[in-house]
Amino acid sequence: MAILFNEQSREFHIQGRNTSYIFSVLSNGYLGQLYYGKKIKHRDSFSHLMQYPRRMVAVPSPNEPGNPKFSMELTKQEFPHFGGMDCRQPAIKIKQQNGSRLTEFKYQSHVIRSGKSKLAGLPATYVESDGEATTLDITLYDDVIGATLILTYTVFEAFDVITRSSRLVNSGSQPLLIERFMSCSVDFPDKDFDFMHLSGAWVRERHVKERKLEHGIQSIHSIRGGSSHVHNPFMALKRFDCTEHSGEVYGFSLVYSGNFLAQAEVDQFDVTRAMMGIHPDTFNWNVHPGESFQAPETVMVFSDKGLNGMSQKYHALYTARLAKGMWRQKERPVIINNWEATYFKFNEDKLVTLARQAKELGIELFVLDDGWFGKRNNDTTSLGDWFEDETKLPHGLKGLGEKINDLGMQFGLWVEPEMINRESRLYEKHPEWLLQIPNRISSPGRFQFVLDYTNDAVIDYLYERLHDILTNAPISYVKWDMNRGMSEVGSTHLAADQQMEVYHRYILGLYKLMDRITTAFPEVLFESCASGGGRFDPGMLYYMPQTWTSDDTDAVERLKIQYGTSMVYPINAMGAHVSAVPNHQVMRMTSLKTRAETAFFGTFGYELDVTQMTDAEKEEVKAQIAFYKLHRSTFQFGTFYRLKNPFKGNETAWMVVSADQKDAVVGYYQVLAKPNPGFKGLRLKGLNPEFEYTIAGRDGVYYGDELENIGIKLDPEFDATSIEGMHDSQDFKSTIFVLQCR
Ligand code: DGJ
Repeated sequence: MAILFNEQSREFHIQGRNTSYIFSVLSNGYLGQLYYGKKIKHRDSFSHLMQYPRRMVAVPSPNEPGNPKFSMELTKQEFPHFGGMDCRQPAIKIKQQNGSRLTEFKYQSHVIRSGKSKLAGLPATYVESDGEATTLDITLYDDVIGATLILTYTVFEAFDVITRSSRLVNSGSQPLLIERFMSCSVDFPDKDFDFMHLSGAWVRERHVKERKLEHGIQSIHSIRGGSSHVHNPFMALKRFDCTEHSGEVYGFSLVYSGNFLAQAEVDQFDVTRAMMGIHPDTFNWNVHPGESFQAPETVMVFSDKGLNGMSQKYHALYTARLAKGMWRQKERPVIINNWEATYFKFNEDKLVTLARQAKELGIELFVLDDGWFGKRNNDTTSLGDWFEDETKLPHGLKGLGEKINDLGMQFGLWVEPEMINRESRLYEKHPEWLLQIPNRISSPGRFQFVLDYTNDAVIDYLYERLHDILTNAPISYVKWDMNRGMSEVGSTHLAADQQMEVYHRYILGLYKLMDRITTAFPEVLFESCASGGGRFDPGMLYYMPQTWTSDDTDAVERLKIQYGTSMVYPINAMGAHVSAVPNHQVMRMTSLKTRAETAFFGTFGYELDVTQMTDAEKEEVKAQIAFYKLHRSTFQFGTFYRLKNPFKGNETAWMVVSADQKDAVVGYYQVLAKPNPGFKGLRLKGLNPEFEYTIAGRDGVYYGDELENIGIKLDPEFDATSIEGMHDSQDFKSTIFVLQCR
């Protein structure tokens, strides 16, 4: 068993392949954290790790009479509560009938079992057979309020990942109001960490940020209704000597798409408390007697092989046991999307012409983006009216889809089912379907408003519309967009005391709809999107195995965005397209080569008017697509390594290695050309030291150990001063190395 329990010491030891997580039942019935880190040998007791030095000002806990040294304030805990001696941030806070928020959950029982259960109504990692994971459910009980708290730990031994979640059951007789309920909390014995997270904005998503932990709280959050462009529901605690390739790091990733809080608090004795869960500022939940509440799951990864080690564990688990459905490990098609080619201005002829040209280049799937429904000639109108615009599509989606299929391509469609424009038939019929607060102005965002997904009638309407569209037209792919954050959040459908439940109920409604539609159409490939990467999170990935990474398709910007995104998310989840120049977001000119060589490290596609390309460009694109197809399984399902960090210099490099280590593709990028540069090399990772590799375009063969320890020697190829007759700008250059085992 990967989870051991010692009856005498009442200690639990959770063991992954390379990870130990140890905690115990304290003498007062609370849970105390003992160790989280690299796997260590099991022993009968680790109780010596719980230190209680005598500190005169720390008041002893009343829960352990006779032990003057004991204090919850000095105790490293597993799920700290509000209102007792521990004055750090709590994981749980519940309002009771008498107004008190104090709770005292004490150990009652536990069960260790094979497998992993589903989380009711929520996305989560899963097993396909019980042998893949071991689960521990610990039941704690507060006998004053009659509430039961169940903390669940699952270890995926082979993936070396531990997940945690928590559930509250009102087993008493008074109504309870949850005001704060984290998914996990871990106390580390010191504060020698950098706090790392992924932050940004629209068209600048998931930039890597880090800073040293200090006393007080470092946190990131969203209260925008979705996980947001601004912060991703992920944080890492990194040892100071941790690099991409070595050193210790702890990752925390929340499987949730709504408002979240992730924080690390350093206390007066240098203990670091890391916690993560639904953001308490926008959340209350009524739990009536007999009811329960399930918090989302946190996925915790420890790596002593640096950031790449952490990311690879997330990539493996999220590819195989988070994303669900037949597409999860199936090669994804090369896509063309018409958005940046036409925006709202298209008709059937234009689309078919685009598709025909795309087919000739080797593209496999044509996606019709925004503008096909209602009277949607700009973004002020028609969201909610999910019926074809017959002036643009005289033969409907069915006719268009069939024409695309006749060309030998698959057909995909954009939808934005969570939104409504006031200028729409749906709004005329159902003005009460908007999220809104009576007597308050609802602010538009991109001229649109958010539908009330807490209302099942809304969900049913959208399910019916989407079902109809997907049944009547030959649609193989859906891009599910969401283009604004939430404001003035309230529901006319819910009672006054449920208004603080709306944000979370919205996300539950969204999950319900996505579950229904993805189950009804298992063969359709779904890609989520939220103004680019505004909801790139594990919750969405569960239903939809890929996400549009960013509306910023500029190759140079994408280096940072894709590098940051790869901290948690697999390459096969990252939509990456070649677009036109000057780039529509930053007006930068980059070569077709650099644009493709950046987008290769994602689910690859194009998003430009292919009919406007020169013959030479078309030939180049044909070659790019043929190349991607040849290496597609390695790009999408190989092991990904970050080699050079765009946040730290002028160069970026990364590579993918096939599972058998026989094939690898390396991408190397230089943002600005440097005159007369020094010698350069690039050390590779993940190769088999015993294998002999060829490098396409270079003579000779190289052992894997040479390529890892000495590296590839780089030519000063991006320096105009060293190449005779070269007059073009050498900025924004890239090169690809293809390695093959002989
Ligand atoms: C935002 C998306 O990120 C874009 O790719 C595009 O689909 C537009 N919405 C359409 O309105």
